[in-house]
Amino acid sequence: MAEQSSGKVSMEKIVSLCQRRGFIFPSSEIYGGLSSCWDYGPLGVELKQNIKQAWWRAVVQERDDMVGLDASILMHPQVWTASGHLKEFADPLVECKSCHLRWRTDEVKGSTCPSCGGELTEPQLFNLMFKTFMGPVESEANVVYLRPETAQGMFVNFENVLNTTRKRLPFGIAQMGKAFRNEITTGNFIFRSREFEQMEIEYFVRPGTDDKWFDYWLEERHKWYINLGIKEGNLRLREHARGELAHYARKCYDIDYLFPMGWSELEGIANRGDFDLQQHASFSGKSLTYLDEETNQHIVPYIIEPSAGVDRSLLAFLCDAYDEEPDKDEIRVVLHFNPALAPVKVAVLPLSKKETLAPLAREVYAELRPCWLVQYDDTQSIGRRYRRQDEIGTPFCVTIDFQSLEDKQVTIRERDSMNQIRVPITELKNTLAAKLKGEPLFVLPPGGQVWKVEREE
Ligand code: GAP
Repeated sequence: MAEQSSGKVSMEKIVSLCQRRGFIFPSSEIYGGLSSCWDYGPLGVELKQNIKQAWWRAVVQERDDMVGLDASILMHPQVWTASGHLKEFADPLVECKSCHLRWRTDEVKGSTCPSCGGELTEPQLFNLMFKTFMGPVESEANVVYLRPETAQGMFVNFENVLNTTRKRLPFGIAQMGKAFRNEITTGNFIFRSREFEQMEIEYFVRPGTDDKWFDYWLEERHKWYINLGIKEGNLRLREHARGELAHYARKCYDIDYLFPMGWSELEGIANRGDFDLQQHASFSGKSLTYLDEETNQHIVPYIIEPSAGVDRSLLAFLCDAYDEEPDKDEIRVVLHFNPALAPVKVAVLPLSKKETLAPLAREVYAELRPCWLVQYDDTQSIGRRYRRQDEIGTPFCVTIDFQSLEDKQVTIRERDSMNQIRVPITELKNTLAAKLKGEPLFVLPPGGQVWKVEREE
């Protein structure tokens, strides 16, 4: 729960920037929106893809002990009996006898309705799973559920993955995708919604080594956020108290972020023990075990689960990158995204709209486009165009001016320092590639000429 405001940027500013620049819109906005559902716009979808790609590379492609999976959202209904979700995945609710609003019991202080002061009913459990029907007949026999977590797809495919990849313990499966929860209380923009995306890892280990692997993943996941630019001081680790643990968890830590509304959960790392494999073995009648090559015994692995939210990560990256700086008589709004996450990597800006500059500027644009998402912008003053790119977090602008026609050089302007250098067009792609990989700003590739560094006027 929120405890303290970060005081850095308000949620209103983030929501307004997202809407103004095309990161995130309310769902079905022309019909007045649909509560707690959001649409990712042209820049939002790029940012989201970049976050997911960074996660996938770090936890699957760059590791020998991990494989990926993309299981279906609809699963056999028995999955949810075995997982305990049908019984346990519920919040206690009270209803106001006057206005009929429903409240989670932890939201109500006394015994009266927070909205109208009316009398409240006794608490009743409300299951958070979305129900629908498979096929044309709407009967109890055809009920299926939208998955409330991606995790179960990985547990029920444990044997398939083991048999097809011949992985040895410890190894993990990673999956990202949509999850749905009929949350009672939503809000704080995309922080808590009813349709969201998760990035989850199920890491299978020998019982007895689970504490070691728990600590390992907690550190790895904490580092991942920091490596992508989140300030360490805006992250904290919080252990769940006994009464707070989910029904499957032996131990759990949250990685919390200092969101504008205060410290709140970004990712959970849980030790699920052998709960899931035991449950699915018992309900399916399949033996979900691992033949331990050391002891020649069948064992049921323990599972360490780092479970992150895509939308919450995106919100954290946005809040952390947001900055306002005095700029002459105005305020410069900048998103200091790590280049790997920035939706647009480079903007190509001819200094003027005059026909004479367009052919060269278009040539430069055509050369860079196959490498990155690049924007071409020739409207308004150069200053305003820089500000527009700052506000969407574009790390580099390339400006083509009249001198470029003579000397075949262009100016690279860097978002954070606003420093500018001139480089020959023949060196442009390599220079940008090096900068986008995080090499020190304006240190040129070996053999490269040193150009004068100037600060933007
Ligand atoms: N498989 C374990 C699991 O689902 P969780 O703590 O319920 O654990 C994991 O969810 C992550 O999913 C959370 O840390 C959060 O980032 C994200 N998440 C959960 N509910 C969400 C919601 N209603 N809206 C947005 N993200 C949510």
